[in-house]
Parts: sequence; C-alpha cells; structure tokens
Amino acid sequence: MATPKMVVLTGAGISAESGLKTFRDNDGLWENHRIEDVATPEAFAANPELVYRFYNLRRSALLDTQPNAAHVALVELEHHLAQNFLLVTQNVDNLHEQAGSRQLLHMHGELTQARCTRCGTVVRWLQSLDAADVCGQCHTHGRLRPHIVWFGEMPLYMDEIYQALAACDVFVSIGTSGNVYPAAGFCEQAKAYGAKTVEINLEPSANAAHFDEGWYGPATMKVPEFVARVKNG
Ligand code: APR
Repeated sequence: MATPKMVVLTGAGISAESGLKTFRDNDGLWENHRIEDVATPEAFAANPELVYRFYNLRRSALLDTQPNAAHVALVELEHHLAQNFLLVTQNVDNLHEQAGSRQLLHMHGELTQARCTRCGTVVRWLQSLDAADVCGQCHTHGRLRPHIVWFGEMPLYMDEIYQALAACDVFVSIGTSGNVYPAAGFCEQAKAYGAKTVEINLEPSANAAHFDEGWYGPATMKVPEFVARVKNG
C-alpha cells in the first residue's frame, strides 16, 4: 500500500506544555488589551509602540523555550512519511524548527522575522524591534513590522496548503480551538476531497463534530501515541 499523504495542522495547544500561553484558554488579555486589539493593522497604525512591545516580549520568551515531546514526535512522523508529509502551523513560535521539522509552512508568519512595510522584504530578526528599525533593502528605508499575519490580513502559503488538503489521505489537527478561519475550515476542506480527519486536542474543539476520530488529552502524550500508531501501520 502507498504511504498515506498526511497534512498536519498545529495550533497554540502543541506549544502549551513548552510553557507558551495559548490564546483562548486563559483570560485572552494582554495588559488589559484583547489579543485582537494588539494584533491588527489598525492597532499598529494607532499605537505601534504597544504592538512592538507585545511582539518583543513574545520573541524574548522564545529564548527560554524548548520544544516538547509532541514537537519531537512530529519530526519522527516527517522522517517516517518523507515527501508524503506536510506540517502547517498557525504558531508563530519556532519550536517545530527547533525540534527539527523541515517540511513546514508558517501560515500566520514567524516571530523571528520582520518585514518591510514598503517593499515587503522579510528578514530574520531575533532582537528587539521598534519604530527606529528600517529596511536596508529598499530606497525608502521602510519601517519594519513583525512578520505576523494579523487579524484581517491574508494568511500565507494558502495555494500550497489548499493543494495539499485536496491531495491528502489523512488530515490531522493538533492543539487548535477551531475558532480562527481559514485554518478552522481545513478539516471540512480535506474531508470534501475524501481525506480521513483526526483531531488531537486537550478537549473537543469547536469543530470536533467534523472529525472522524478524536484523541483527547495533553499533546505531549497524545501526539507520540498517534505517531507510534502511524509507524506501526
Ligand atoms: N495539549 C493539547 N491541546 C491543548 C493543550 C495541550 N497541552 N493545551 C491547550 N490545548 C488546546 C486547547 O484546548 C485549545 O482548544 O489548544 C487549543 C488552543 O486554542 P487557541 O488558544 O484558540 O489557539 P489557536 O487555535 O492556535 O489560535 C488560532 O488565533 O489568535 C489567533 O493567530 C492566532 O494562530 C492563532 C489563532
């Protein structure tokens, strides 16, 4: 039998046991601001310092954060399935890369990158970012912003992702509450093309009814169990 083509989507829940906060499990507030109010183009236009500070804190938190057993299990899965595997993450942390994942698309951008607001050039950015930092690539020295997809902006790599969803045999969603589109619609999309769908989450998500199979519990336990089952056929 041919190796199944598998697309795995991850959300904040996979990084929770590494110590990174999820968006909707806690009070959802950051210094009395709703996440949605610091993660929009409008917030950046109105109060760039606040937005820079929010992402600077999140970027510096990454320095002390390590991938967990769930991230590591997905690296094993990538090695096992080789070219028949694609990891799509909504997470802007770099824990999948730190663990060793390579076939990975960051659909909501990356904390460790900055982007010129004029020419769109993306650069690796590990230090603090603020309004004084400008692009070295364009003549106008455009302001740099976090390379993050904010609410109201178009997620990245959508053509590649929809092609993979249409071609896959199995779609697996891990650690996402199923509240934010388009990722929340990937299960139905893959299913419409005939894929089997699996959810791995602490508890049933908003979309749980659409999945063929649910594995509920902490990601560090359930993801390695799932990967072991795939490897054992
Ligand atoms: N193991 C597995 N799942 C977990 C764990 C854990 N240890 N801890 C929490 N979860 C689950 C929660 O039950 C919840 O369903 O992870 C999910 C996290 O959901 P959200 O906080 O909504 O995060 P996510 O779905 O990734 O958010 C999507 O929203 O704010 C935006 O752009 C941001 O990418 C983000 C998007």
